[in-house]
Amino acid sequence: MNISINYSGDYSQLLSPELEQKLQAIHEGIQTKSAKGADYLGWTDWPSTISEELLQDIKGTAEHIRSTSDVLVVIGIGGSYLGSKAVIESLSTPFQKLNGVEVIFAGHLVSGTYLKQLMAYLDDKEVTLNIISKSGTTTEPAIAFRFLQHYMEKRYGDQAAARIFVTTDEEKGALRSLAIEKGYPRYVVPGNIGGRYSVFTAVGLLPIAAAGYDIEKLINGAKIAEQEFEVFDTKSNRAIQYAVIRNHLYNAGYPIEIMATFDDKLSYVQEWWKQLFGESEGKEGKGIFPASVLYSTDLHSLGQYIQDGKRMLFETFLNVEKAVDDLTVFEAENNGDELNYLSGLTLHAFNLACHEATSSAHLDGGVPQITLTMEQLDEQHLGHLLYFYMKACAYSAYLLDINPFDQPGVEDYKNNVFKILNKPGY
Ligand code: PA5
Repeated sequence: MNISINYSGDYSQLLSPELEQKLQAIHEGIQTKSAKGADYLGWTDWPSTISEELLQDIKGTAEHIRSTSDVLVVIGIGGSYLGSKAVIESLSTPFQKLNGVEVIFAGHLVSGTYLKQLMAYLDDKEVTLNIISKSGTTTEPAIAFRFLQHYMEKRYGDQAAARIFVTTDEEKGALRSLAIEKGYPRYVVPGNIGGRYSVFTAVGLLPIAAAGYDIEKLINGAKIAEQEFEVFDTKSNRAIQYAVIRNHLYNAGYPIEIMATFDDKLSYVQEWWKQLFGESEGKEGKGIFPASVLYSTDLHSLGQYIQDGKRMLFETFLNVEKAVDDLTVFEAENNGDELNYLSGLTLHAFNLACHEATSSAHLDGGVPQITLTMEQLDEQHLGHLLYFYMKACAYSAYLLDINPFDQPGVEDYKNNVFKILNKPGY
């Protein structure tokens, strides 16, 4: 279950008595839900307090969607889609639909081409929609929903309402009013949990369960992480350790963190992580810029910069100990490709060697490093990993005296769009 953490420097050297004291205050602020932005600390004990009734309800709905639909279209942007996308991509097989419905995302971009092609693809399939927006007013998913709702009404008539699930705030928002008016079944995004911290609520759970994955195991992994990281111990709490190392590197002149992985299944965990840390920390002229690379492909592109470009990056590897599946290089008769020296080596072992080689090259090139290793890619370990990142992100933002739970910068572009497009009231 454990995530192990390795740092290229000496972690114990980073812990001064002042820092320990600051960390303890931050920890208590989080645990007692009294820290800055306290109204949005509901995610901290959500895994241990989520009701069995809600879990069973979501499982039942997912089962119903699976038995009536070929495709579930999930409409949402940012925290309303990246968590479920990250989990589903991590667990699925790219070339085969497993035991769930096909989950397709929309509303995370605005594209007539995408929506037209999506609707054409849906034409000969049974479809369910899940529109997710906590505020219920975000423009991009609202635009996608206008088209897809119309599509559903044309196709299913009166029956459309039973195929449109709405996940939104309990008390406010245009989407909530619309759902009530149309009689769409509703799930609630808890008021005290923000979008990027909502993967363990119905926001993430319904699409993940519909895709056929075990949400109880996911929650269980998060619950284990919750219990593990509620203990204040700077020597064993890895969420604190990760935050402390990042903070140290930031102060030492490394404002960019690159998350690197050799596992393409984790590419949407990278996207989720970038949103989580970027939107939580990047404020008031402060914060680490989160970027990501997927190896080996990026070793043949951005690898040059990482090795040799301007020294402002640190690199965090996310490794998985056990491969889901594997192949062993076999001995070829003529050795025309001159690869026989690899025979007997698994492709996972190749990647481990590549990690070792890359890590030592980048260290020589002056790139400080953190390595996070998770045991395997399954629901339980992913639940643990995502909770670990959320907790680490909160410590990290508080170390910079930043409120991790607002996003004033995101509002700026939104207001400009409304002004440019003459939205009434702007
Ligand atoms: O983390 C956040 O709060 C944001 O990224 C939101 O998830 C995103 O802006 C979508 O908002 P909403 O769910 O209100 O449509």
